[in-house]
Amino acid sequence: MSQDAAKKAAAEAALKYVEPGEMLGVGTGSTVNFFIEALARSGKEVAAAVSSSEASTARLKAAGIPVEDLNSAGTLSIYVDGADEANHRLQLIKGGGGALTREKIVAAASRRFVCIADASKLVDVLGRFPLPVEVIPMARSYVARELVRLGGIPELRRGFTTDNGNLILDVGGLSIVDPPRLEAEIGLIAGVVTVGLFARRPADVLLLGGPDGVRELTAAP
Ligand code: A5P
Repeated sequence: MSQDAAKKAAAEAALKYVEPGEMLGVGTGSTVNFFIEALARSGKEVAAAVSSSEASTARLKAAGIPVEDLNSAGTLSIYVDGADEANHRLQLIKGGGGALTREKIVAAASRRFVCIADASKLVDVLGRFPLPVEVIPMARSYVARELVRLGGIPELRRGFTTDNGNLILDVGGLSIVDPPRLEAEIGLIAGVVTVGLFARRPADVLLLGGPDGVRELTAAP
């Protein structure tokens, strides 16, 4: 089974969590693109979607799904998004597509976070995937030095600006044994907008597509 087929299977499995008539949050990335296609094909009429990126907004509109601003939407019942890595506690690394800030906001504003991914994204310890950190441009060097102090190897994502006009540092060399703690520590560095660790607000459900079908993991109580 190809990685794309696994992503598509996970995306389609998320449809059962979507109730017609409700407003949902929609993330960013190739797995989410499969979800948008599946949602449009399903005929389930949602009230509207709150999008986490300009790219997803364009795709949603092209699929005929209305897009609503988060400020007028209020609390969302469900948020569907992908991940770059997930552990068994459903804590995630996100931001490979650079949309981590809006993704974190929409996830925070949602009651249930359904994460969709192919099974290769499940790891025992987060950190093999370089951790994306969105930074204010003038703070780039300072934040990079602080990240080195925390044991990371930051690298500027060249030629990339986020939807918010900021930069991304991709931080390698980390073995993240305490994700909530590192999320807080990096988040406190002056100039950091968002760290792509989703540990304080992890996913509630993780749908992993693979050769044996879609595996469903839920957060431990
Ligand atoms: C976007 O910024 C990311 O957080 C994505 O959710 C993540 O990179 C997963 O992307 P794919 O679905 O393309 O693997």
